[in-house]
Amino acid sequence: MTDKLLYEGLRILIIDDDREFSHSIEDFLQDRGFLHNYIDDGNLGIEKAVNNECDVVLLDLKMPKMSGIKVIREMKLKAPEIPIIIVSGTIDIKEAVTAVREGADEYILKPIYDMTELELCINRVWEKYLLKRQLEEYKQGLESLVFERTKQLQVKTEELTQSNELLKSEIVKRKHAEILLKKNTMNIIEAIEQERKRLSQELHDSVGQRLMFTKINLELLAKELKQENEKLNNAIEGVSLAGTEISSLIKSLYPVSIEKYSLLQNIKTLIESFEKISMINVEFGVEGNEPQIEKNVKLSIYRIFQEVLNNIAKHSDAQNVRIKMMFQNSELSAEISDDGIGVDFENEENLHSGTGLFSIQERIVQLNGNFNIRSKNGSGFTIEFKVVL
Ligand SMILES: Nc1ncnc2c1ncn2[C@@H]1O[C@H](COP(=O)(O)OP(=O)(O)OP(=O)(O)O)[C@@H](O)[C@H]1O
Ligand SMILES: [Mg+2]
Repeated sequence: MTDKLLYEGLRILIIDDDREFSHSIEDFLQDRGFLHNYIDDGNLGIEKAVNNECDVVLLDLKMPKMSGIKVIREMKLKAPEIPIIIVSGTIDIKEAVTAVREGADEYILKPIYDMTELELCINRVWEKYLLKRQLEEYKQGLESLVFERTKQLQVKTEELTQSNELLKSEIVKRKHAEILLKKNTMNIIEAIEQERKRLSQELHDSVGQRLMFTKINLELLAKELKQENEKLNNAIEGVSLAGTEISSLIKSLYPVSIEKYSLLQNIKTLIESFEKISMINVEFGVEGNEPQIEKNVKLSIYRIFQEVLNNIAKHSDAQNVRIKMMFQNSELSAEISDDGIGVDFENEENLHSGTGLFSIQERIVQLNGNFNIRSKNGSGFTIEFKVVL
């Protein structure tokens, strides 16, 4: 026997019609520190269990008023957690199996000769009960934790859904703003082009015509004079030069040829005049066939080439320029590179010094395209872009 009582104060309820048996164990239970109560009626026993007046039940199977199996069944319904130890005088295997099936925890044979066995049995069922309770508490703790976490998760999900909605409406707003901006830029570009066209026509009709008539009149005068006059010849040459200059200005303001000829023809003419003016050599290559291109799109692409070549003439100090154009699937890809001094774009000032590159970018955006510029100090300048035709 153990010296120290492990479950002192445990309330044992004996439900048995055999008072002798109860007497036989009472002293032992008392000695081991258990509290005990005796009852010979199953119904009263169930009542005590339901009222929480006991911790462990010792139950006889054969009782006249109510069978032990019935008591187990009722008790498991009304106070399911209370451990039940069957104490039976007969070895009836079938009965023992039924009792365990109904929920009995242990089975001991009467009379009990070795009380240690009874003590161990009580200890076992009580330990099992405590373990079950711990497990239950743990499960409840876990469940409330899961509940708490699920609640937190729901709150977070709701927050996320809300911010997602906010983000969505923000995206829609931005898209609207972008469309508006694109429309506005398009309007500005169109207005500029119209103004250039008007200016070019005006220059052609006024200054251009006047210069032409002055030149014709001066030439007639020279013929009438019948002898060489150096001052007159210089005047004719000056007027003629002014005529050429004004006509190239008219062309650059608005190339009328854009409406009549293909993009490639216009670009070739642009390159020829660039080579003549800048004295820079251009290597030009084309892949694919140019499709039918709408006039405004043609003009926009022409303007991009015009600005890039102007920049080369103005800033590059280059000897050679390479231009590649490729028509494919209603798209134009182009690359223009020079072998000049290049520019350091790490220095923001260089990037935003003028409006040329900005207007190139705007035109490319309008044409649903994209572009890329590569340049380093001393290693040339390359711009590549792709636009939808
Ligand atoms: N081919 C090039 N080689 C070297 N630097 C270049 C070249 N093209 C552009 N740059 C640099 O990029 C800068 C920005 O070019 P951008 O066309 O925007 O302005 P800009 O030519 O100075 O002025 P604008 O075009 O308004 O008359 C230029 O000032 C120049 O420093
Ligand atoms: Mg420029």
